[in-house]
Amino acid sequence: MNEPNVTVVDHPLVQHKLTLMREEDTSSAQFRTLLKEISLLLTYEVLRDIPVEMRPIRTPMEEMQAPVLAGKKLAFISVLRAGNGLLDGMLDLVPSARVGYIGLYRDHETLLPVEYYFKVPKDMEDRLVIAVDPMLATANSITAAIDRLKEAGATNIRFVCLLAAPEGIKALSEAHPDVQIFTAAIDSHLNENGYIIPGLGDAGDRMFGTK
Ligand code: PRP
Ligand code: URA
Repeated sequence: MNEPNVTVVDHPLVQHKLTLMREEDTSSAQFRTLLKEISLLLTYEVLRDIPVEMRPIRTPMEEMQAPVLAGKKLAFISVLRAGNGLLDGMLDLVPSARVGYIGLYRDHETLLPVEYYFKVPKDMEDRLVIAVDPMLATANSITAAIDRLKEAGATNIRFVCLLAAPEGIKALSEAHPDVQIFTAAIDSHLNENGYIIPGLGDAGDRMFGTK
């Protein structure tokens, strides 16, 4: 798959940690730790081009002009529940970012998203908005989430996930061609129940030990 709007973050550290996450014997505690560690590396990539500005500082040796993040407003939007596993690491790196939540779950029969919560920061039109959810399967959930973010005014949106199915990338690219997708891997396909194959199972259940 060679989509111009998709970046696969295939750093060896990411691939190694993702393999550990996929293994069925990995505990929920390990799964959450690994997801947070990978999120740091994905954040590094998704924010690679954000602007910096020069500020005068004084080192112990002399004065200099040094780069700091420019005042560009960032908003991280977690698609609940599993998005929170990526959000934690992102906030460790950028503690000043504003945070929003979109509560969605997939109806297991229809695979359509059901919204139960929506709260995002003000001034969405002025922000670089990074939506996060580990799994991009049919793309029904993230497509609905991005519909809602655009209704709230967002115009500059990127999406970070851990695993994507080719079907989901295609669907999301058709629905929202302006949204750049960052993922650690693109898997083979979806099964008849809408699960990513080989995948890692249900991300929310594996994070929180539910089933
Ligand atoms: C999972 C995942 C995504 C969605 C992806 O959430 O975290 O939100 O499925 O599937 P899609 O691309 O086919 O829409 P789930 O509905 O299991 O909810 P949860 O995070 O509350 O467990
Ligand atoms: N949601 C998940 O958590 N896992 C999948 O494989 C598909 C959707």
